[in-house]
Amino acid sequence: MIYGCPRAWINRLVTAKIQVLMVCLGNICRSPTAHGVFKNRIENADLADKIHVDCSGTGNYHIGEKPDLRSIETAARRGYDLSSFRARQVQASDFERFDYILAMDATNLGNLRARCPQVHLPKLQLFLDYAAADCEAVPDPYFSGLEGFDVVLDLIEDASDGLLAHIRDRHFPDPGAG
Ligand code: 4NP
Repeated sequence: MIYGCPRAWINRLVTAKIQVLMVCLGNICRSPTAHGVFKNRIENADLADKIHVDCSGTGNYHIGEKPDLRSIETAARRGYDLSSFRARQVQASDFERFDYILAMDATNLGNLRARCPQVHLPKLQLFLDYAAADCEAVPDPYFSGLEGFDVVLDLIEDASDGLLAHIRDRHFPDPGAG
């Protein structure tokens, strides 16, 4: 809080957009999928001028690489284009820049917590906190079969709908409602 204003409000004055960061380990399977799906939700809701989404990884194994071909193809079958994304690792500046930093599982959340300045810790959450499904982790599909990538997409679509509803309610409430 600065002078009684939540940090997210300050960021909005500076960047004019709510900033959302999706985080997994390699930044080639789950978080780019979450990036692509949530970007689709933002655009469909006509909120691209108000919400920005990006993705990154806690690990450095795949920096600069395209998403895993299995993620690209599974997403494409549902109409999401991940082909332009390139993997990057979480930077210290991300904790300042983003309003929502959403981990795909508890291990990545723990890794983020270990690096995050205390003042920004409230920004860190599990992405599936926003899902209707009673599930905490988007399972790592990297060593699984193709069906694992569809499970990832099911969970990510669910959480993306919940996250968009949350951001709308909290940051852009309908003045005519209630
Ligand atoms: P992601 O999946 O964290 O969803 O991008 C993984 C990608 C690569 C590796 C592990 C998980 N890896 O060990 O290289």
